[in-house]
Amino acid sequence: MERILVIGANGQIGSELVDALTAQHGAENVIAADIGPRSGFGVKRYEPIDVLDRKGVAHIVETYHVTQVYQLAALLSVTGEQAPLKAWDLNMNGLLNILEIARERGQAGKPLRVFWPSSIAAFGPNTPRVATPQTTVMDPTTIYGISKLAGERLCEYYFSKFGVDVRSIRYPGIISYKSPPGGGTTDYAIAIFHAAQRGQRYSCFLGPETGLPMIYMPDAIRATIELMDAPAAKVKVRSSYNVAGLSFTPRELAQQITRYLPDFEIVYAPDSRQAIADSWPQSLDDSIAAADWSWQARIGLDDLVRDMLANIKVPLELLNRAA
Ligand SMILES: NC(=O)c1ccc[n+]([C@@H]2O[C@H](COP(=O)([O-])OP(=O)(O)OC[C@H]3O[C@@H](n4cnc5c(N)ncnc54)[C@H](O)[C@@H]3O)[C@@H](O)[C@H]2O)c1
Repeated sequence: MERILVIGANGQIGSELVDALTAQHGAENVIAADIGPRSGFGVKRYEPIDVLDRKGVAHIVETYHVTQVYQLAALLSVTGEQAPLKAWDLNMNGLLNILEIARERGQAGKPLRVFWPSSIAAFGPNTPRVATPQTTVMDPTTIYGISKLAGERLCEYYFSKFGVDVRSIRYPGIISYKSPPGGGTTDYAIAIFHAAQRGQRYSCFLGPETGLPMIYMPDAIRATIELMDAPAAKVKVRSSYNVAGLSFTPRELAQQITRYLPDFEIVYAPDSRQAIADSWPQSLDDSIAAADWSWQARIGLDDLVRDMLANIKVPLELLNRAA
């Protein structure tokens, strides 16, 4: 029986991951944890946690006999640029704390499997941008991307040096309708749906031809759980796996939306986020994840657009993580 701790559980990914893990393992076996107040989702167990408090996290792990930790707490690309030292501290020491707890538990014969997400932000301007390979040049330019690349190296180090069973995915931009996005460069692909649904013109902070890799939340959650459930011998990459969903530009997304909402209009007003997007891949080669643990994306652009439009009922600014 698995006992699972999700840190950053109130966030865009954490809130949906907790639901999926609860459905799989039962509410009593999933502990949602976040620095914020308890969220409204149907969790049975909630713990207020600061991932930077190693002793506090270790205490929760021990108390609940936790066997898996998903460490999602981070500052993302845009918010990270506003507070680089805070981003470095949270993103690096949050991960390091969990890896250290896993190392100590492993030595005590109580193995702890760890999931930690990297990002396409770990790539940089000299990375091949189309069908970016699993192993390639990585020269990130944001503090967020630098922390993700360093985190990948830490994961591999803790696996090879201490045998910590840590697993990771380089998430593309994640699109979802249940929770607000957490301050990333790909957030336009969520905000656009809220504008479209309200009948408003959308002013896009990226230019029309800015292709980026994206993934719809159900595919992202499935990838995460499939990787964590894979036999250890199949997980051959211990830094972080490329996982592709789909790739599109703002123009292509807007065109697809106008198939369903013909009056929808988009204008383009690129801001500082354009430079970040321009340093990231346009599409990813995820053939290694496919070969190692049979990853395959299921949701394409048309399915994504139809599902987003069908499900967005609440204006973005009224979506409240704590509601
Ligand atoms: N959302 C994406 O598109 C995307 C893409 C690539 C990678 N990722 C990665 O996935 C992870 C989760 O992303 P998200 O979009 O859900 O982020 P989010 O900002 O929506 O959620 C992060 C959560 O962490 C919590 N948190 C912050 N500081 C904390 C602390 N000290 N202790 C405990 N909890 C704390 C916040 O309260 C928040 O609920 C991050 O590591 C992020 O880098 C996300």
